Amino acid sequence: MQDFLSIDDLDGHSLFELLDVADGLRSDRSLRDDLRGQTVALIFEKPSTRTRVSFEVAVAELGGHPLPLSSAELQLGRGETIADTGQVLSRYVHGIVVRTFGQDRLEELAAAASVPVINALTDREHPCQALADLQTIRGVFGKLEGLTLAYVGDGNNVAHSLLLAGALTGMQVRVAHPEGYAPNSDVVDRARRIAGSDDAVVVTTDPDDGVDGADVVYTDVWASMGQESEAEQRAGVFAPYRVDQRLMDAAASGGIFLHCLPAHRGEEVADEVIDGPASHVFDQAENRLHAQKALLIRLLGGVG
Ligand code: CP
Repeated sequence: MQDFLSIDDLDGHSLFELLDVADGLRSDRSLRDDLRGQTVALIFEKPSTRTRVSFEVAVAELGGHPLPLSSAELQLGRGETIADTGQVLSRYVHGIVVRTFGQDRLEELAAAASVPVINALTDREHPCQALADLQTIRGVFGKLEGLTLAYVGDGNNVAHSLLLAGALTGMQVRVAHPEGYAPNSDVVDRARRIAGSDDAVVVTTDPDDGVDGADVVYTDVWASMGQESEAEQRAGVFAPYRVDQRLMDAAASGGIFLHCLPAHRGEEVADEVIDGPASHVFDQAENRLHAQKALLIRLLGGVG
């Protein structure tokens, strides 16, 4: 693996290896020197709290130098191409983490760069989030295979990465979405192919059917970054998909609640759920750090 642009860049074995390393890093947060002498550029073309801070801390705790850059302070924000940016940065840094818009933009950067590129969120995927999600789920249940994850809401980038990650790890992933907000059919097809079974993925417009007996109930904001102008219209469409206690009660006994955050409390999730005993959202946020450290060691460890 040269780059990490999609969960589909991993096979099941590599994914479980990453999770094992991430668990070890969570148990022992001692400073390390895997990235000694290496600089990692962190380019953010969209806002971020968790991803930006966890990557910056991760690089520092691995002995490297994180270089956070917003597009507004780069020539990228004034029209320099992402490919030229990738070529130039490759002459200075040892890795590039990027949050951007289309997956094609990320792929253009990765094709031009001669150093590893990591997807810190595109409109299509959020694979670093999915690594932390799997680490959190395995931390609770001690396994992934055979579990059911119900994602309720917009069939967005987070849903896409969960579909692919679930398929690699033997989970069933259900997506319950309003009409017109389904996950991309090519991602659903790919997840089914990876899993070798159509039953590995269930796509429904009924939130109760989606959550019925699920081990994990997961949601995300109704309007993602860049969709703010649709927020009011989406609030009406998505209201029946709010995760409240009534919906959580349909999950399996011992079922947990996850949210990639930031949450819009009172919209996609009720306070009683996100602050309730089934919620693991802050462990999930913490695991961003450990999972991304594991990824950085895999891609950059020993390169410097
Ligand atoms: N979950 C997530 O990616 O959070 P940020 O947008 O704050 O990075």
